[in-house]
Amino acid sequence: MNAPRTGIVSAIAQEQKGLIDALQGARRVRHGNRDYTLGTLWGREVVLVLCGIGKVAAAATTTSLIVEFGCDALLFTGVAGGLDARVRVGDLVIAETLLQHDLDARPLYPQYEVPDTGRSRFDSDAVLTAQLLLAAEALFATGAPSLIESATREAFGLHAPRVHRGLIVSGDRFISTKDESDRLRQALPEALAVEMEGAAVAQVCHDYGVAFAVARTISDRADNTAHLDFARFIETVAGPYSLALLTALWRS
Ligand code: ADE
Repeated sequence: MNAPRTGIVSAIAQEQKGLIDALQGARRVRHGNRDYTLGTLWGREVVLVLCGIGKVAAAATTTSLIVEFGCDALLFTGVAGGLDARVRVGDLVIAETLLQHDLDARPLYPQYEVPDTGRSRFDSDAVLTAQLLLAAEALFATGAPSLIESATREAFGLHAPRVHRGLIVSGDRFISTKDESDRLRQALPEALAVEMEGAAVAQVCHDYGVAFAVARTISDRADNTAHLDFARFIETVAGPYSLALLTALWRS
């Protein structure tokens, strides 16, 4: 039997830079227009990959990680826009379940339902998600903001970040107006955060029976200011948080 191997997926390069730097014995494989970097992180076999932005990119990459690279678990780390009023920039949201907010095959199927599956929500793996929540809570209890330079903390107003768990919604739209986020809040009041890949990863992992978990740092409030400083936030906050989160998860 092969050793367990975890796929670690992000959409954008700066989200994964710290993890790439921490990788031991890195070996790169080009497949399907993506670079997969194999190696070990704190003694665990991993495959790091940038899937690109959007659900198709995420689904294709997830399939390759499972079928070509033999991953038996997947972690997605990246950023999301906050929807729930309690979810603020700098907070972490860990998905318990995910839904595609732009999937609508009515009148053939109910809104959001993935045709012929009978479901619109796909749950993350309970064990992996509980471990990620513990790691996130430990990280924030020991003052995650201290990972971030004070000027950056001030610039983004990061003071006492919190960890949330619940519904993340995904779709092929960057939500950058208050009208759009109001509509999402109205349609899906339980949604904590919105992004563009997680529910696609969830659907593919469900098809293959592979455990997965999703952690998102909130980069914006999915409103008219959502695009401001996006790249800087990912580089200076979300990237360091991803590394710190996986360090807390795996380094004993
Ligand atoms: N990822 C980060 N912020 C987002 C937003 N506002 N909409 C969709 N995906 C996002």
